Amino acid sequence: MELPFAESWKIKMVEPIRKSTREEREKWLKEADYNVFMLKSDYVYIDCLTDSGTGAMSDRQWAAMMTGDESYAGARSFYELKDTIKKITGFDYVLPTHQGRAAENVLFSHLVKEGDYVPGNSHFDTTKGHIESRKAFAVDCTVDEAKNTQLEVPFKGNVDLKKLEAELERHCDKIPFIIITITNNTAGGQPVSMENLRGVRELADKYGKRVFFDSARFAENAYFIKTREPGYEHKTIKEICREMFSYADGMTMSSKKDGLVNMGGFIATKWEDIYEGAKFFLIPFEGFLTYGGMNGRDMAALAVGLDENTEFDMLQTRIKQVEYLAKKLDEYGIPYQRPVGGHAIFIDADKVLNQVPKEEFPGVRLGIELYLEAGVRGCEIGYLLADRDPVTRENRFDGNDFLRLCICRRTYTDNHMNVIAAALKNVYDRRHEIKHGVKIKWEAELMRHFTVKLEVLD
Ligand code: F0G
Repeated sequence: MELPFAESWKIKMVEPIRKSTREEREKWLKEADYNVFMLKSDYVYIDCLTDSGTGAMSDRQWAAMMTGDESYAGARSFYELKDTIKKITGFDYVLPTHQGRAAENVLFSHLVKEGDYVPGNSHFDTTKGHIESRKAFAVDCTVDEAKNTQLEVPFKGNVDLKKLEAELERHCDKIPFIIITITNNTAGGQPVSMENLRGVRELADKYGKRVFFDSARFAENAYFIKTREPGYEHKTIKEICREMFSYADGMTMSSKKDGLVNMGGFIATKWEDIYEGAKFFLIPFEGFLTYGGMNGRDMAALAVGLDENTEFDMLQTRIKQVEYLAKKLDEYGIPYQRPVGGHAIFIDADKVLNQVPKEEFPGVRLGIELYLEAGVRGCEIGYLLADRDPVTRENRFDGNDFLRLCICRRTYTDNHMNVIAAALKNVYDRRHEIKHGVKIKWEAELMRHFTVKLEVLD
């Protein structure tokens, strides 16, 4: 008999979680103005809101915490981190930040000016926010296939090179750099192929532009290249990472994802001028050059996390769990962005709640129903998250409307996956009864989904 697949780790420490009744959840959600971000985490049974900073650290990482050097300047832990980043990416210059958006803030303060255009694949909301708040434009050049959730193509996160070249022609002088998000979170945790990264590099060179990777889930991207792109099956994840980053001039990183830590980020680059320019903003915004918003012990744990998460077994364990949940949804016929991505399942809310008008945010309503059903918390990545067009102030309905269910790294078991799947099936089975979504009572101008206040329409 062939042995089944199992995790490449065992559990050393556990954290109790609590179930609740439907009545309790109804009360809590009403108090939270139907915004799941406003719920206390104690009110959540299985938390799929995000995979950001929610993973479990290893014993090696906890051991590294004890050896952290908390010196203000020149901390040993910084140099350990810098060496690990150099090994994985090849980049010589590193600036630590407290998380990914802080890295964006520091780098974009140096590079993005009013009236600029920053093309790439789908920008994450904080990335878009940091571009648009500078009165510049984030231009999404993702391949059209990404919009069709039922299409099975291996690299749905790719940049459409024709769209990118048209943008480079149109706004050449106003483009400070190209940004590629690996994996493409907004499109469903979808990977970008090595061939595509190479293609973007060639275009960037032709037009004299620099390329940055938003690298939050770069290791998962490398896993997909190894398992889906011909020619890479025998390479190690670390070899693939080195090649990926060889096509970039630098990166921003949210270490809370593929760094396997609860907090942290960094900028890394091969260019001294970028380092010098960004450094100027790091000190007032984040902190001195060798800690920039991080504790020494957190940098020490991150160095270990980056090393662990660029090993095949770790990534395979993680992605197999996401695939396990996807298979259950296949059994129940629940539509999601196919093929399943790296860190989450993106339920196609528009298709599930097809009677709910776009203007009433189907993805948000689906998230509300799932929470009420079983205390499972997801996150809308759709029309609400897309914010309003900065010029017309109209809602943007041109993308997909997803309910994203993130799977935290090394946190839940397959039994939890079974609960999530059953809860979704129950909601799916009564989808025809759900004809309305939500109405916005109050919203912020930017990144409204975090703090929005809603009313449920029935
Ligand atoms: N880039 C990507 C692709 C992200 O997914 C995120 C965060 C960031 C940048 C910003 O990093 O949170 O450390 O400041 N994504 C989280 C999520 C919040 O839930 O997808 P951060």
